[in-house]
Amino acid sequence: MNHDFYYLILFYILLINFNLFIVTVGHICNHIPPKQKEIGFVHLESKSHNRKQRDINISNNLRIKVHYDSSAFELPRDKFNVINNTILPQALDYWQKALQVTPLETPIIISRKCPNHEVLFPPKNPKHQHCIEKCEPKTTCGEVVVPEEHLDVCRVCNKEFANCHDVGKRPKDAGVKDADFVFYISAIQTERCQKGATVAYAAHCQQESQTERPIAGHANLCPRSISTKPQDLATLLSTVKHEILHALGFSISLYAYFRDKKGIPLTPKGKNGRHEVNKELSVPEWSEKVVRKIKRDKWLVRSGYMTKDIHMVVTPRVVEEVRNHFNCSKLEGAELEDQGEDGTILTHWEKRVFENEAMTGTHTQSPVYSRITLAFMEDTGWYKPNYSMAQPLEWGKNLGCDFAMKSCKEWIDKRRRDGKSIHPFCEKVKEEPLETECNDARDAVALCNLRRYDVNLPPLYQNFDSIKGVGQKFLLDRYGGSVSLADYCPYIQEFTWKSKDVVVRGSQCQFVENSPPQDKNFALESYGPNSRCFNHKEKWEERACSQSRHWQHWGSGCYKYECVDGKIHLEIANLTYVCDYKDQEIKIQRLVNGWLHMGTIICPSCDELCPNSICRDLIKTKTVSDNENKKDYLQCGSHYYQANQTVILVHLIFFYYFYSYWR
Ligand SMILES: *[C@@H]1O[C@H](CO)[C@@H](O)[C@H](O)[C@H]1NC(C)=O
Ligand SMILES: *[C@@H]1O[C@H](CO)[C@@H](O)[C@H](O)[C@H]1NC(C)=O
Ligand SMILES: *[C@@H]1O[C@H](CO)[C@@H](O)[C@H](O)[C@H]1NC(C)=O
Ligand SMILES: *[C@@H]1O[C@H](CO)[C@@H](O)[C@H](O)[C@H]1NC(C)=O
Ligand SMILES: [Zn+2]
Repeated sequence: MNHDFYYLILFYILLINFNLFIVTVGHICNHIPPKQKEIGFVHLESKSHNRKQRDINISNNLRIKVHYDSSAFELPRDKFNVINNTILPQALDYWQKALQVTPLETPIIISRKCPNHEVLFPPKNPKHQHCIEKCEPKTTCGEVVVPEEHLDVCRVCNKEFANCHDVGKRPKDAGVKDADFVFYISAIQTERCQKGATVAYAAHCQQESQTERPIAGHANLCPRSISTKPQDLATLLSTVKHEILHALGFSISLYAYFRDKKGIPLTPKGKNGRHEVNKELSVPEWSEKVVRKIKRDKWLVRSGYMTKDIHMVVTPRVVEEVRNHFNCSKLEGAELEDQGEDGTILTHWEKRVFENEAMTGTHTQSPVYSRITLAFMEDTGWYKPNYSMAQPLEWGKNLGCDFAMKSCKEWIDKRRRDGKSIHPFCEKVKEEPLETECNDARDAVALCNLRRYDVNLPPLYQNFDSIKGVGQKFLLDRYGGSVSLADYCPYIQEFTWKSKDVVVRGSQCQFVENSPPQDKNFALESYGPNSRCFNHKEKWEERACSQSRHWQHWGSGCYKYECVDGKIHLEIANLTYVCDYKDQEIKIQRLVNGWLHMGTIICPSCDELCPNSICRDLIKTKTVSDNENKKDYLQCGSHYYQANQTVILVHLIFFYYFYSYWR
């Protein structure tokens, strides 16, 4: 460090983020797979009688119709408008464009619920579901009471399963026309909403009996969790898309109904024409052609090798896509989540393997719907996806079989031995003072989510033999990533700043709303659509004539940049600094609002930030641009700031650390 005056300052005032602290985001998905007995089946006639039952012609874009429950209209106006005008149209539009389906030729009719879920299919009229003696007065789909005009006629038989007949008549125009799926949307603050910051949950409630495709479902949006802040909309949209997909097919309750390309069910039914029900999970049992249990008997953890049982989706398109993604031709399939509660386990992708894939069990950062998820939808046998709607998944891309098939400990150890980067995993403990870094995409300030727990982690999730700064060996049992679903493997993650449990701002560079307040913008950051993350070289310092502040939290920040003539031009406090080569250190010394801000920013390569430019980065040499001329100096009285001047301490009204520090 070559600050002339660095050693002469008497005291450091270490500011620890004022009263802000940080948590990593994580909405756990709360999709509870519907119980087998709660699902209705309805027979919808197809007009083209010559079509063989198994002949499928998937050629039309999926048509989803929305029906609001009255509770949705009780949402505050701004929340309803965000849902009705932005979130739902965009989420539905995405799946309607991404998925094609054999179109239904008749309106969607909902079967009536029977008392005690006792339904029968009488031999004389086996296509239709009948109740014993009477139908329930109300039929619900999730929390929503299905309107009378969507319901089938009530069909009943007597207790001896005889004298089956219709009660009343179904009106001619009953049902939901021109739709392949009807979505009932409610907004009720249910008990499930209270749990783990749930934003929404959804599931299907009815299947069509010939194809067994889900044709009706419900989604409940949790009123108190809906945020209308611009920086939260992307997450809300992704959550709603995620929940819709559970209702359309991505659910453990539907695995047994998946079909091959020819429309033949992958899981045969029992003699009674029904699927066996898995007692533990209350869902129909699926065959090994859909999801297979696989044993990993050499799972390396701190204590040595253990055995880990995993479940994998092994349908053909999914297998092809995951092998391609990881560049691993012997990968058996796509691993499913093996942790979490009913609503998470086996009904999401494994977080360790697919981190920011949107169909993992918890939202952490920049969710994407990848080709792998679209392939899964194709392998249901009900949909044909448009793969150009898929978003690129960077996590794990081309990292090979070791990444996809071994523990993160084994992967990290091997990469370290080979002298390679251990990204996307990391090993910097998240603790005060916080040292941030940039995520690999450089679109957010990020933190390694490695933390210390109060208790030992289960041995299967102990991934470290040593951690820098952790001297006591026995404590290593307590260190792991903050995302348990990722098998406690630590990785680089975006975060939010919180104050008294209220989210103040996020860490993504693209949102102006994430800017720090002016008096705390020590590193002269600027957030907005043209900003990206740059690393700092050291702690930042702020000086006024009689005061000095050293910012304890540092590491990286968001800055506005442009690609000009094959070089990165950084804009800081209205001046432009030029990056001539990768890893160049640009010293910033600027006077803003009476404080002299001092720090160093490290340049990325032009190729990294300017993919559409012809880059002209120099080979590392001495600085050629005139960045040096862009330094301000503090003028105190008639003198420039003197290196040996005594610095007077300010009393800060906020929480601070006080260090006496001599060198
Ligand atoms: C499939 O549907 C499309 C459009 O509806 C139609 O043009 C085509 O002839 C159908 N193919 C078969 C085999 O039925
Ligand atoms: C919801 O949005 C649709 C389509 O944008 C619009 O036609 C409808 O009036 C809106 N509903 C309400 C209650 O504002
Ligand atoms: C698939 O999606 C892309 C991008 O939205 C679109 O341009 C293309 O026409 C779609 N293809 C089909 C077959 O619908
Ligand atoms: C895929 O792996 C093979 C060796 O297993 C390697 O030669 C090849 O370069 C890899 N491809 C990519 C795109 O990383
Ligand atoms: Zn989910």
